[in-house]
Amino acid sequence: MVNKHRPLSPADYVPADLVQPSVALAVSGEAAQLNSTTAAAAEQMFAAAAQDGVTMTLASGYRSYGTQVATYNGYVAARGQAEADTASARPGFSEHQTGWAFDIGDGGGACGFQPCFAEQPAAVWAKANGHRFGFVVRYPWMLHEITGYYYESWHLRFIGVEAATDMSAKGIATLEEYFGLEAAPGYL
Ligand code: DAL
Ligand code: ZN
Repeated sequence: MVNKHRPLSPADYVPADLVQPSVALAVSGEAAQLNSTTAAAAEQMFAAAAQDGVTMTLASGYRSYGTQVATYNGYVAARGQAEADTASARPGFSEHQTGWAFDIGDGGGACGFQPCFAEQPAAVWAKANGHRFGFVVRYPWMLHEITGYYYESWHLRFIGVEAATDMSAKGIATLEEYFGLEAAPGYL
């Protein structure tokens, strides 16, 4: 569990089993990697989406501590720290560093990482079907007071088929609520 109250430990943690999944890639190198469990689940999910005629790409997977430093600092430079904190995790606080999370794209269009991505087929499909492969949309609409981040229709987190399906069946939208943890709107 990683959120604004629960950083990685150690802060520069690196998953031992990073691999590149056999899926359509919109990135290369480090960001095209996931931990081996998440990679295997992603391969199944992307294949199922393709069978339904939905194009899904891996837009951003693993991010090292050092990469998150650059990513977060870029947001701060562009928008200021308060707004940056609603969209990008501080270094050592990102699910991307765990290898359990990744962002999806749809292979084109102007909606990548944008609010309008939520209406694109890849996001609609992932929201409806992700749980069958163990994924949850980690930062849902209007729940930033619990998760700490505004809606990211593209950011999926692997928690396993059993838990993701149970969460979906119970209508629980956030991991904080599902695991009975306190809301984490900001850093402690
Ligand atoms: N955009 C998500 C919150 C991250 O930076 O990990
Ligand atoms: Zn993400």
